[in-house]
Amino acid sequence: MSEQAPQPSAEGLAEPMRSRWSASVYDASHRLSDQELETLLRAAQWAPSAGNSQPWVLFVCVPGTVNHERLVAHLSRGNSGWVPRASVVFLTAAHVRSGEEPDAPAYSDYALHDVGQAAAHLTLQARSMGLHAHQFAGFDHDALADALGVPATHQLLTGIAVGLPGDPAEVDERTAARDHRDRVRKPLSAWAFRGRFGEDPVPDGLADSGA
Ligand SMILES: Cc1cc2nc3c(=O)[nH]c(=O)nc-3n(C[C@H](O)[C@H](O)[C@H](O)COP(=O)(O)O)c2cc1C
Repeated sequence: MSEQAPQPSAEGLAEPMRSRWSASVYDASHRLSDQELETLLRAAQWAPSAGNSQPWVLFVCVPGTVNHERLVAHLSRGNSGWVPRASVVFLTAAHVRSGEEPDAPAYSDYALHDVGQAAAHLTLQARSMGLHAHQFAGFDHDALADALGVPATHQLLTGIAVGLPGDPAEVDERTAARDHRDRVRKPLSAWAFRGRFGEDPVPDGLADSGA
């Protein structure tokens, strides 16, 4: 599999952020040890959360298990070519309501933020262990939540596929091509403001501009 070189504007980042990218070609024969699996879960466990509410639930889907079959049955077409080859897929859910009623009060106003943060910690821990991780949301959320028995208090959110690089010759052309996509970002000036919304944007190249 090809490795993506860090983009010029990412070169100053610390590892594992610097070399992280969303790989799509995985070695289907690779499995994580129980120790590695546990360490990835520990990274999520130790993420910060509002009031230490820890509003995440993770489903562990290892190839050959029932949870993996449940996931694969509900993947979008675009994700069905690459997700099943990962060594493990974690599905994240957020504790969003304190009761089963649709209008029950929020469990935590920051549940979505916190689950995203736990996902980020797991993703970066994977990279620091020499693994790649690719987050995804392309699956039938209702059907998969049903298959996993997710209660009304929780919202099924995303998947995180984790694994080792695989041989592009083993996958279809479309999946292989995914690992060569340009990685692009909005400039800092589009979303970092030193004033009110939209005002005094931070220029790209701030350090050189003296601004
Ligand atoms: C919430 C979320 C949903 C995503 N859904 C998908 C998806 O369904 N399929 C996919 O191939 N990639 C998916 N991605 C990956 C993004 O496309 C990818 O992170 C983005 O293009 C930036 O590329 P990079 O991670 O290599 O920097 C998703 C990422 C996030 C965070």
